[in-house]
Amino acid sequence: MLHGKRILLIISGGIAAYKSLDLIRRLRERGTAVRCVLTDSATQFVTPLSVSALSEDRVYGDLFSLTDEAEIGHIQLSRDADLLVVAPATTNIMAKMAQGIGDDLATTVLLATDKDVLVAPSMNVRMWEHAATQTNIATLKSRGIWFAGPTEGAMACGEFGEGRMVEPLEVLAEIESYFTTSAPLAGRRAIVTSGPTLEAIDPVRYIANRSSGKQGHAIAAALAHMGAETILVTGPTNETAPAGVDVRHIESAREMYDVCVGALPADIAVCAAAVADWRPARQGDRKIKKEKGAAPPSIEMVENPDILRTLSSAGNQRPALVVGFAAETGDLIANATAKLMRKECDWIVANDVSADTGTFGGDTNTVHLITANGSEDWPVMRKNEVADRLAERIAGRFNQSTEAVG
Ligand code: PMT
Repeated sequence: MLHGKRILLIISGGIAAYKSLDLIRRLRERGTAVRCVLTDSATQFVTPLSVSALSEDRVYGDLFSLTDEAEIGHIQLSRDADLLVVAPATTNIMAKMAQGIGDDLATTVLLATDKDVLVAPSMNVRMWEHAATQTNIATLKSRGIWFAGPTEGAMACGEFGEGRMVEPLEVLAEIESYFTTSAPLAGRRAIVTSGPTLEAIDPVRYIANRSSGKQGHAIAAALAHMGAETILVTGPTNETAPAGVDVRHIESAREMYDVCVGALPADIAVCAAAVADWRPARQGDRKIKKEKGAAPPSIEMVENPDILRTLSSAGNQRPALVVGFAAETGDLIANATAKLMRKECDWIVANDVSADTGTFGGDTNTVHLITANGSEDWPVMRKNEVADRLAERIAGRFNQSTEAVG
């Protein structure tokens, strides 16, 4: 679950800072990348050297470090992680977080982040109970920041009560549960097709279509973001490879077919590629010459293998959920429903690709999700929003049942 995840751990200055060393070790054992930011006072409790040795990375602490800013920058530092963890969190850093104060690297990163934040408080019982602290905690909770602990026990100062930082294993359990809920497709394997296929006429010329790969790539990114091991089989596009996705480049429909079949077994298949239905029967190994006075050559076409249909009827290797797309220029729902039956997939995403819609190559799409329960009209959305919504539906389907897919 934690393998390959990236945690930004902010260590503030409390006696419990030693626990953060154990937390780093346990995260690293699980294959998690841990990058650490230490406040000035944290360095009174743990050394940057020990933190760096355990995290196997450099340690950050100085907001005005020219080297750090040139290399990564505090904004990037806050964005590169999957989750921010503040452990231990002193009453001081929580007060700054609640008030929006950014007077050092740690607090600036916390202000600049667009990621979720987990806080493991550590302080004296009176400080914990103080109205100011409790108000700050309520503010932070209302903003979606969530807390591990504190717990009750004997304190370093000799008092007893609530305020002790929870043990590293409990922080770890919170982190794991975060990724379990935010990665509902963890442990699932998905194949996504995207982009056009190119069908060679001769070594120079080919038949292609207008697919840009925007929709298919966005779907692969959304599935990977939800934790699915995602293989993206794509024809030539200008799209950048989505993070965390295994991208396989192909040109022709037959190559796409081979790679998709070779990638089985999978739990999910989404065929968003615009696959050529036909290819030239013969691809000469020499350029067809234009002879003076000769008639234009006629190109005999043969049918390409149907990837969607093959995946839908792959016997015991059939993905539990097979989703096709239908690109239509008329009678959208009727044609797409007929395609759902013919190709034996579970769902079909119908989109109108008439010239004036801008669906091919554009940034938005207006789709209709057709399932055994009928057709749902989705509003016009950006392609990444269509992808997120489809991925949510897919995750919902798997959380309902891994067996019955209708
Ligand atoms: O790439 P973009 O510019 O973002 O545009 C997105 C899109 C319009 C290409 C996409 O949303 C879309 O509609 N993709 C499917 C295009 C298509 O080929 O539709 P179709 O109706 O011809 O095919 C039906 C389904 O069968 C599709 O899932 C297709 O991938 C699949 N198919 C078709 C032929 C074939 N030989 N093998 C297949 O798997």
